[in-house]
Amino acid sequence: MTGFNTQLVHGIPILDNQTGAVNIPIYNSSTYAYPSATSKVHWDYERSGNPTREFLEKQIAELENGKNGFAFASGMAAIHAVFAIFKPGDHIIIGKQIYGGTYRILNQYFKERGIAFTAIDTTKPDLVEPAIRASTKAIYFEPITNPLLHVTSVAAIAKIAHQHRLLTIVDNTFLTPYLQKPLELGADIVVHSATKYLGGHSDVVAGLVVTNSEELGKQIYFIQNALGGVLSPENANLIRRGIQTLAVRMDRQEANAKKIIKFLEDRPEIVKIYYPGIKGTQDYLIASQELRGFGGVLSFELAESVNAVAFVNHLRLIRLAVSLGAVESLAELPYEMSHAELPPAERLKAGIDPQLVRLAVGIEDSQDLIADVKQALEQAVGQKAEHASQKNEG
Ligand SMILES: Cc1ncc(COP(=O)(O)O)c(C=O)c1O
Repeated sequence: MTGFNTQLVHGIPILDNQTGAVNIPIYNSSTYAYPSATSKVHWDYERSGNPTREFLEKQIAELENGKNGFAFASGMAAIHAVFAIFKPGDHIIIGKQIYGGTYRILNQYFKERGIAFTAIDTTKPDLVEPAIRASTKAIYFEPITNPLLHVTSVAAIAKIAHQHRLLTIVDNTFLTPYLQKPLELGADIVVHSATKYLGGHSDVVAGLVVTNSEELGKQIYFIQNALGGVLSPENANLIRRGIQTLAVRMDRQEANAKKIIKFLEDRPEIVKIYYPGIKGTQDYLIASQELRGFGGVLSFELAESVNAVAFVNHLRLIRLAVSLGAVESLAELPYEMSHAELPPAERLKAGIDPQLVRLAVGIEDSQDLIADVKQALEQAVGQKAEHASQKNEG
């Protein structure tokens, strides 16, 4: 088997073009001619399959060490497809801190269609068994929570799930197969918002699913083809291209994140830093066992003396935006932005304080990022607080 970096760069070659092109062409064809009316053809219609999309689907299946891959028009379309394999009456255990859009589709869409959910703190695997019912079919979670970056052991959860014949489904968006391969730790299905690290350039919205068995693959394919939320050939190409540089980007993002943390640790304006690579925590312990690295996202809590809104507003190089995983650094206030949909009491209960800043670190020069954080801190000290929550995606 080739190494991970070689897999990233080359994917699984589809040698069907006549030109010697080193990359899979973007096949812009919604329909494909049959040699004869009775021929059994591999390609007939783009929703059912497209060579550029198939390249990406095989590539992500190989990277996650799974059986089948599927590409969707967004991370949410991928998540929708995964939950669409369940039936009314089924019960699913979900992580307490999952992406807001996922929480919304489960509670405002699938719940109304007869699927029941119980949310638990998956960082405590002991909580899984008491939540299991006769109708429980699966457990779904994010191995690293957003924005506090608490780590769940995929191996521990998958072990319990297997004992009870439940599927383990993992949203691997924050880690990617570079930092963790959930299927190798016992999970059955992996989903991604490829919009984030896999695409890596804030220029495309996409979702991916990988299954560990042909049987699950058939179920996901049925939904992909029947519901039709497929990724376009152009966007499949952008994700394919992003994947080629995944490891080098993530190495730099993590190195930059660690340098920013080192700077923040010495600053009196910082009360607490959240990052799984900080030693001495339960998160660090699990992350060191199951992850290849600690990633490029960190959060920190500003002292009361710093106006959090003014801090992010004064950032110049680091853009004030939701989303993560791209080459450019992004900052946001979870209380005001990514998590504003939760009622204030829920936000505080989840540890999402108005003073909390999330930084999705990019690949710029670390000294420029640190200088930006420093000047914004200096300008925001002593300014009056102003909070006006709005609803945001990402
Ligand atoms: C962990 C996670 N899963 C899923 C999604 C949804 O993906 P998309 O925005 O590509 O639909 C997001 C988006 O922020 C996310 O952060």
